[in-house]
Amino acid sequence: MSTHQPVLVAEVVSLLNLRPGTVVVDATCGGGGHGLDILPRLRPGGRLIAIDRDAGALAEARTRLDAFEAMTVFAQRNYGELSAVLRELGIARIDGLVMDLGMSSLQLDDAARGFSFLRDGPLDMRMDQRQPLTAEALLRDRPAPELEQLIRTLGEERYAGRIARRIVRERGRQPLTTTTQLAQLITAAVPPPARHKRLHPATRTFQALRMAVNDELGALATLLEDLPTLLAPGARAVIMAFHSLEDRLVKHAFRNGQRAGRWEVLTKRPVRPTVEEVAGNPRARSAKLRAIEAGA
Ligand SMILES: C[S@@+](CC[C@H](N)C(=O)[O-])C[C@H]1O[C@@H](n2cnc3c(N)ncnc32)[C@H](O)[C@@H]1O
Repeated sequence: MSTHQPVLVAEVVSLLNLRPGTVVVDATCGGGGHGLDILPRLRPGGRLIAIDRDAGALAEARTRLDAFEAMTVFAQRNYGELSAVLRELGIARIDGLVMDLGMSSLQLDDAARGFSFLRDGPLDMRMDQRQPLTAEALLRDRPAPELEQLIRTLGEERYAGRIARRIVRERGRQPLTTTTQLAQLITAAVPPPARHKRLHPATRTFQALRMAVNDELGALATLLEDLPTLLAPGARAVIMAFHSLEDRLVKHAFRNGQRAGRWEVLTKRPVRPTVEEVAGNPRARSAKLRAIEAGA
């Protein structure tokens, strides 16, 4: 299995202003890429609360962060429940929070998870495989207008109407069960010139389905709403978004919090990866990092 290359690591570490003995949450710990650089800076006495919805990601992180086992707590939870997770752990406030939104290469590269249109697999797309809703169920049950809306909004897909209508037509003929089936159907639905662009025609629809299946915007909105009650005085929060709707939620929540005097925004403009980082890690391309510091 390939590993996930963490994005903007130096910037995350610097903006978190990590100090020994403090409590930091990595709410999207994935394979532990950022955790690995955070943990040594919390010694002695600090703790990392490593959260992910995905059991496979947490298993990978446990191995990677093995040397820091005594100072790491792993939790397979939705970060939308961060308040509850901290309450259960007896932690009143945290000193740092990092979030690296979206999915990891570990998830994308595993055909059985159904995230990739380039690999034949089941239409699953669940980050937490304990949840009942899969992409297959969503594509089977939702009416055409709802599918169109979802693909248009979350995928920012201009051919959402054509794609939704084709899905509804095809599912009336045979059940849609595989990623390849869906990718081919989408390719056939878009106008011929759009089939040969650099971006695969299924990219945006797959992104939209993944975000809908996992209610990614809902979880982020809940976390941002709870954020003022989670941060200790002087705490830092650093969030990396890869989708314009996510970045907009973060930007507005950070700006509104600053206006309310809760924190100061440390990033006037979002921090972007350098050309060199993008060359070595294409996933970094669309990253936008924003950070705040809670009032004293
Ligand atoms: C981009 S990856 C993080 C990679 C990690 N920073 C690293 O460098 O190894 C995003 C991770 O967030 C997790 N995730 C997404 N939404 C989540 C949610 N609502 N609650 C908890 N974890 C979530 C995904 O399962 C995925 O493993």
